[in-house]
Amino acid sequence: MAAAVSSFFGILLLAFISVSFAEIRFSEIRSDPRPIIPFDEFGFTHNGRLELNVSKLSFSSPDPDLSKLGFFLCTRDSWLQVLQQIEDAEIACALQSHIIQEVYNLNSLAKSATAFNHFYLQSDADQYTLVFANCLPQLKVSMDVRSAMYNLDGKSKTRDYLSAGITILPRVYFLFSLIYFILAAAWVYFLYKKRLTVFGIHFFMLAVVILKALNLLCEAEDKSYIKRTGSAHGWDVLFYIFSFLKGITLFTLIVLIGTGWSFLKPYLQDKEKKVLMIVIPLQVVANIAQVVIDESGPYGEDWVTWKQILLLVDVVCCCAVLFPIVWSIKNLREAARTDGKAAVNLMKLTLFRQYYVVVICYIYFTRVVVYALETITSYKYLWTSVVAAELATLAFYVFTGYNFKPEPHNPYFAVDDDEEEAASEQLKLEDEFEL
Ligand SMILES: *[C@@H]1O[C@H](CO)[C@@H](O)[C@H](O)[C@H]1NC(C)=O
Repeated sequence: MAAAVSSFFGILLLAFISVSFAEIRFSEIRSDPRPIIPFDEFGFTHNGRLELNVSKLSFSSPDPDLSKLGFFLCTRDSWLQVLQQIEDAEIACALQSHIIQEVYNLNSLAKSATAFNHFYLQSDADQYTLVFANCLPQLKVSMDVRSAMYNLDGKSKTRDYLSAGITILPRVYFLFSLIYFILAAAWVYFLYKKRLTVFGIHFFMLAVVILKALNLLCEAEDKSYIKRTGSAHGWDVLFYIFSFLKGITLFTLIVLIGTGWSFLKPYLQDKEKKVLMIVIPLQVVANIAQVVIDESGPYGEDWVTWKQILLLVDVVCCCAVLFPIVWSIKNLREAARTDGKAAVNLMKLTLFRQYYVVVICYIYFTRVVVYALETITSYKYLWTSVVAAELATLAFYVFTGYNFKPEPHNPYFAVDDDEEEAASEQLKLEDEFEL
């Protein structure tokens, strides 16, 4: 278990390096001695632009050698080469390397100026990081930096502030939100038709689907706002509210179904309530972490800490929701042995085992496979990992809805004697092999 969890973390950590932010960013650098200060990462097309506005520039010592300070763009591969060059002592400073693309060297700054604006055209399509290099040891730099990276659209020449690989995300999210609205409508129709066999949990499922649809709609609006303006103040408050509610309700739903609430029994046991009492506050923490992560760039000070908190919380939630399903499976097995209705219980048991496997697959796919995809796909196709995650989620919702739908003729109780006998046989077999 410990090994599994740590490998889980290992793979997730990989995800740190592959996030691509793309907004207009403001960074305040204060007495910073770092030789390399990374700012932001962006996937350029052949029509890329970078606007750099620096102000309040000051240094810890008077009259430093400004040619040793500057901004440059660099891909990940070329950065590794630069590090190699520095290690081999071919160059002393990243700015001397001809692999990097120098954006602005501070020696072009007018005498005693403390601010400058610079415009840079990028026509080599690739994913770049904007970096400031300070090749003077002991020199501390202070400045306010505004960086805006964008691509110009083919014909209309409008600005697109979303990185090359994620620029179609608004459309992707919108499409998925439509699908969920259709699913919700279908579910309402279905509940109405089968209204005699509807349980409380079925209305809860409806709420989960509607929240998911609203969340995707806000995400689409949010991303398209960033795409147009470069800043994230479209519907992001609504977006955070819906993703918070969606997170809580989805995990609660998995726990409730796992416990068999409202199909198998109308109440929750104490230990099952405890799982909910762990999962719900953790979801609150997860959402706070998500907000902080989104608001500070990948190179912000607390970014990694919050990312780790988010991962930890997520792993705990995912493990916690599995317990009730395991308890139900155990109870059903015992009931099957003692109360004589082996076939009925065995059918429920199979259903719960299937559900257990599907929940694990869903968690594994959306947490691990998707991040792995994100790291191995080229920056141009980053959207594919989002599509993969959304498809997996959709499949999970459909599976859950289909298997736990209201049933007029409950298959659990429509069993004849032959089946009863076969089920008892199977149970005996299972006991022998301790499945
Ligand atoms: C930033 O610099 C660009 C390029 O020189 C310039 O067009 C733009 O107006 C500047 N923006 C601000 C806010 O100073």
